[in-house]
Amino acid sequence: MVIRVEFKVKDISLASKGREQILWAEIHMPVLKLIKEMFENKKPLKGVRIGAVLHVTKETAVLVKTLKAGGAEVWLAASNPLSTQDEVAAALAEEGIHVFAWRGETQDEYFWAIDVIANAEPHIVIDDGGDLHVHIHKAKIELAKKIVGGTEETTTGVTRLKALEREGMLKYPVIAVNNAYTKYLFDNRYGTGQSTIDGILRATNILFAGKTVVVAGYGWVGRGIAMRARGMGARVIVTEVDPVKALEAVMDGFEVMKMIDAAKIGDIFITATGNINVIRREHFEIMKDGAILANAGHFDVEVSVKDLESIAVEKRDIRNCVTEYVLPNGKKLYLLGRGRLVNLVCAEGHPSEIMDMSFANQALSVEYLLENRGRLEPKVYNVPYEVDSMVARLKLKSMNIEIDELTEEQKKYLGSY
Ligand code: NAD
Ligand code: ADE
Repeated sequence: MVIRVEFKVKDISLASKGREQILWAEIHMPVLKLIKEMFENKKPLKGVRIGAVLHVTKETAVLVKTLKAGGAEVWLAASNPLSTQDEVAAALAEEGIHVFAWRGETQDEYFWAIDVIANAEPHIVIDDGGDLHVHIHKAKIELAKKIVGGTEETTTGVTRLKALEREGMLKYPVIAVNNAYTKYLFDNRYGTGQSTIDGILRATNILFAGKTVVVAGYGWVGRGIAMRARGMGARVIVTEVDPVKALEAVMDGFEVMKMIDAAKIGDIFITATGNINVIRREHFEIMKDGAILANAGHFDVEVSVKDLESIAVEKRDIRNCVTEYVLPNGKKLYLLGRGRLVNLVCAEGHPSEIMDMSFANQALSVEYLLENRGRLEPKVYNVPYEVDSMVARLKLKSMNIEIDELTEEQKKYLGSY
């Protein structure tokens, strides 16, 4: 018989502090509040067990409470070993959520917690980055037949799921929440744009004005970061591998060059590619003394920490979230948040107003999967447009913004040839 521990958090006595944080997030998440009221009345998730691997933040708490209000039993682990807000985890544990997360998990503890979530035998799997989906597909495949479907929060997770789909290995339908317009246009761009700068400022308190900021990757996240860094008075350089994105960056007014050229002149480097070893040994060796390295991409592989560790002659933590590496040439480089997502490790992640839309898509996608139980194939699906546009409408309504409607004449005109 499997004995299930109910939760594992750092310190349950932090719960009252966590409740205050969650309340603050709730006030700024009006769309999710409406969905919660709807779920409370309809109970569409009654009898459903949900296994979720997400950053355990105050905003995630609002999502999890919404799912519980809909009747679900929720099991939650962290999608990054350093992003958990311990007070929030404690508050959730007190509210009956099976939470297994604390800040500073070792790699083994991180995967242990994910295994606990899989062992809860969820009917719905919610993931951020794909570690839970991949774990189920690699090590717990027998659970897949009971899984109605899953969702995926971020670009890197969708990339991994599409690889599983391509290989014919995906065993249940997954909704790519990341690909909703009301997700990536706002979360990836404005959310990460702001919270990445926030993370760098909280870690370092440096002045952006007049600095040279190098942004690697001009996708949705990179665009947001470049835009906000420029807004703070920085000179912004973009590096890319995709010629179309590079051209877009040029026409948006940024300098574009190879990383090997940018490495010599940058003061602050921010990776946002979803790719591996974007900044590596050959780049570290030519950087200026005092250069700061930060990553906003999902995994801690974009700035090669392995290379930094192997070439550095000295290393020490000099303040919260900053590690100093001394290279053989005597120059010092400063790595933030150990190379993990700087916005969640050194700050609080995206503002609640942004997560309101991302998590509204999550909640409604879970409801959609259950309503369409047995009708979906094991594929990666986009969020249905009705869901996406409903989230946009509710968000506009919460902001007291009204928009025009097509007149009958306009509809006819647009439908004519
Ligand atoms: P995207 O696909 O829109 O953009 C990635 C860009 O990086 C692409 O334009 C690609 O051409 C470029 N790229 C790839 N390899 C490169 C290289 N070696 N050098 C320079 N450019 C390179 O993806 P996105 O939505 O912008 O997401 C980027 C990453 O950020 C993903 O890992 C995603 O999961 C993550 N993400 C993080 C947060 C957060 O809160 N920190 C939020 C959303 C997404
Ligand atoms: N991803 C980025 N910001 C986040 C937040 N505030 N909560 C959960 N996941 C996030």
